[in-house]
Amino acid sequence: MYDFAPDPAAPKDVLYADLVSAARALVAGEPDPVANMANIAALIWQFVPRLNWAGFYRVQGSGLVLGPFIGKPACIRIALGQGVCGAAAASGETQLVPDVHAFPGHIACDAASRSELVVPVKAAGQVIAVIDLDSPDPARFDAADAAGLEALAAAIAGAVAECGGTAP
Ligand code: SME
Repeated sequence: MYDFAPDPAAPKDVLYADLVSAARALVAGEPDPVANMANIAALIWQFVPRLNWAGFYRVQGSGLVLGPFIGKPACIRIALGQGVCGAAAASGETQLVPDVHAFPGHIACDAASRSELVVPVKAAGQVIAVIDLDSPDPARFDAADAAGLEALAAAIAGAVAECGGTAP
């Protein structure tokens, strides 16, 4: 049993530092990327409040394919450059979207989503996946959430790469 106990009153830098520590512990020694993505999605759900979707899209060929997640069933394939996830994957840059309805080409997988944060996961300099967080609250995410999720992406990149390798 894994019994992590996030403190909902903790400041975001502490919350995300604890999340990264927990994620490192969960993936340690486990080479299976699907198992690791599934546990990390569950961990995000446990640690980060006010979400309606949290999970992975993986770069496969010329697009993104749905990976392990928590939330409502979602669109399976997203072309690079399309939607918030495709923008993050194509640019290699975090996408912080306070109002999804104002984002050109936003793909609505859950009508409840109001704001979104997507962070690329990179290994060997390449985007191999994105982590996508949706919230039912407008402007739910800020720079501290982006920095925290980027730290998580860097920490677990090697554990979710198909080869199970280690990111530089
Ligand atoms: N909104 C995303 C699609 C994925 S769902 O939010 C789970 C996008 O625009 O890329």
